[in-house]
Amino acid sequence: MDKIAINGGKPLSGEIVVSGMKNAAVAILLANIMVEGECIIENLPNISDVTISLDILSAMGAKIEHIAPGSVRIDSTDILPCSAPDELVKKMRASYYVLGAELARFGRSTVACPGGCDFGVRPIDQHIKGFEALGATVSVTDNHIVAVTASGVIGDSVFMDVVSVGATINIMLAAVKAKGVTVIENAAREPHIVDTANFLNACGAKISGAGTDVIKITGVPTLHGVTYAIIPDMIEAGTYMVLAASTYSKLKISNVIPKHLDSITAKLVEMGAEVLEDDDSVTVYRSGELTPITVKTRPYPGFPTDMNPQMCTLMCLANGKSRMIEGVWDNRFRYVEELKRMGADIDVDDTTATINGNPGKMKGANVRAVDLRAGAAMVIAGLSVKDHTEIEDIFHIQRGYEDIIGKLQAVGADIKIITT
Ligand code: EPU
Repeated sequence: MDKIAINGGKPLSGEIVVSGMKNAAVAILLANIMVEGECIIENLPNISDVTISLDILSAMGAKIEHIAPGSVRIDSTDILPCSAPDELVKKMRASYYVLGAELARFGRSTVACPGGCDFGVRPIDQHIKGFEALGATVSVTDNHIVAVTASGVIGDSVFMDVVSVGATINIMLAAVKAKGVTVIENAAREPHIVDTANFLNACGAKISGAGTDVIKITGVPTLHGVTYAIIPDMIEAGTYMVLAASTYSKLKISNVIPKHLDSITAKLVEMGAEVLEDDDSVTVYRSGELTPITVKTRPYPGFPTDMNPQMCTLMCLANGKSRMIEGVWDNRFRYVEELKRMGADIDVDDTTATINGNPGKMKGANVRAVDLRAGAAMVIAGLSVKDHTEIEDIFHIQRGYEDIIGKLQAVGADIKIITT
């Protein structure tokens, strides 16, 4: 079993280059199911969720060729419908994109119920509601989701009851080759929705409004292959920004789109960190005390839920009472027990965590990565305290952070993987 071992408490310095965005990569890779032609996808992060997505495509009949680090050639011409293997689908939440993409290409889809991080109930009712509005009959039986249309998807209006990233992308996928026009209202606005729409438009789709809460999709009969580069990962960038602030470090975080980081930058500045923006980089440092603050996570452009554990860790290092209010998931605070092993004083009441910050009380410990972003928070905590920390269940971290060990070693961190 692999663990991450950290000797923390040292300031870091240098540059970290951010990889392609996980949540855009998984959507765009699975959207390839709809393309009858050859695509080259670039700036793919080398993480296990990308490997699982490629394995799903390959098992369905796509030809995959790795042409350079971060670049793959995908030919989905010979993909067969309803052929995504259960054991792969169950490994990753984003496998639900097979549903929308297969509906678009074949008018039917069968997919096992997807896996992923556990934040409590993770319904897919909005995905199903959208598919049904577009003419599909959807049933969930025996841990499988089955969606069937009589003769293909038909465009219509979909008003989403909940702002959902996955449902917005999935309905968009299903609608791309529909007969007629689809309008998604109350759509999510995350940058990876825009990236997926840009990829599909480059393939010949007609999508407008991605990035706003109304997306219009005019159906087209076919999609052609393209070469497309994934945008940088704002959550990976945000994680390293918080790391700089938590370790009294100066880090240049490059290959980013600073606009995507606005909500994170604002909260770091409120806590007392300095953030210098350039065209495609941010430099973060702090020299003084951190100020306690309140953060509420919201859909984009609000503060991202996927930065909740990392930010909460930083709050433990600010003297005084901070609050983290989770506005997206109903059970995002499972990591709090792990931070408490490291000396944190945190009370959780439903979706609010009250953090009684005291940097002097934080110490190294043996902890678990209970999910992907929780694991990143443990790395931040471990590097922030003058002590030894070991983190178990690091496969969660490897799902979403390309070469986290190498990137951190390069800026001076004492961090390594140990096999026990
Ligand atoms: N929801 C519903 N019904 C649905 C779908 C969602 O009620 O049909 C609710 C959820 O229960 C949640 C809220 O809507 O309370 C938002 O969920 P959303 O659908 O937006 O989440 P997701 O698409 O399943 C993506 C990311 C997550 C990230 C969330 C929120 C991917 C593959 N995953 O999940 O990323 O937390 O959006 O921003 O894009 C991560 O990268 O670590 C991660 C978990």
